[in-house]
Amino acid sequence: MRHLISAADLTRDDAVLILDTAEEMARVADRPIKKLPTLRGRTICNLFFEDSTRTRISFEAAEKRLSADVINFAAKGSSVSKGESLKDTAQTLEAMGVDAVVIRHSASGAPYRLATSGWIDAPVINAGDGTHQHPTQALLDAFTMRRRLVGRDAGLGKDLAGKRVTLVGDVLHSRVARSNVDLLHTLGAEVTLVAPPTLVPVGVESWPCEVSYDLDNVLPKSDAVMMLRVQRERMNAAFFPTEREYSRRYGLDGQRMARMPEHAIVMHPGPMVRGMEITAEVADSDRCTVVEQVANGVSIRMAVLYLLLGGSEPAAPATTTRTE
Ligand code: CP
Repeated sequence: MRHLISAADLTRDDAVLILDTAEEMARVADRPIKKLPTLRGRTICNLFFEDSTRTRISFEAAEKRLSADVINFAAKGSSVSKGESLKDTAQTLEAMGVDAVVIRHSASGAPYRLATSGWIDAPVINAGDGTHQHPTQALLDAFTMRRRLVGRDAGLGKDLAGKRVTLVGDVLHSRVARSNVDLLHTLGAEVTLVAPPTLVPVGVESWPCEVSYDLDNVLPKSDAVMMLRVQRERMNAAFFPTEREYSRRYGLDGQRMARMPEHAIVMHPGPMVRGMEITAEVADSDRCTVVEQVANGVSIRMAVLYLLLGGSEPAAPATTTRTE
């Protein structure tokens, strides 16, 4: 694996290796000094053309925990606002000697273009492109499901075979949904999408999942329920569902959550819109893994960077790794 552009590019073995490596990386977070010398002397650029809270900070934390030098680039306030192209921005970074580029872009396909154009030589990691893919989000979600539904140590080497995962909401505009469907299918899970008919993508019949319009019917058969935000910023105003109608049919409140099996978890990639797709009662409940997903994201991104950049130090367990 030279780049990470799409969850669909990962084989089962690739994905399980990343999840297992992330378990090793998670041990670093449990230590008083949360740092490994693995990427010392390597420079990573976080190239964000679109807003982000979790993903940008998570990549930066992962890079710093691996001792990389970090350059943060935000399109806002850069020469992109003067009309500079992706090609010229990329070549500027190449000239500065970056060893890897993490990119978020509103255009689907921008990370693929960067990885295959020859503009730069460094590995490219997709941190979310348009409505297309967000592979590290799918990996951190799978990591969270494996820990919660299979077991932290019992899960090592294992996939999510037979686990029933329901994704609910604005599937049409969701790169998280696309990435999750691809990865969960590769890992053996059974995926059901629940969405209003206007927010189901054309061609969904060819996706490796079921589609339902009846949330109450699907909830009792779910091991994990992932709520998706309605992405108004990507919608024509004519498609805006009314908040009250949307919440009534597709929102998760305490009453609906009670329909889920006792062991089942509630997930959300964030950012959440409390009161729209999820109530505060559910978001703040013990069954909701939102904060855990964020913490797990750092371990996953450390694992991806380690595997792509081939760190000079082994990802050994905490008891045997060197610290700085
Ligand atoms: N989940 C996610 O990608 O969140 P951000 O947009 O805040 O990075």
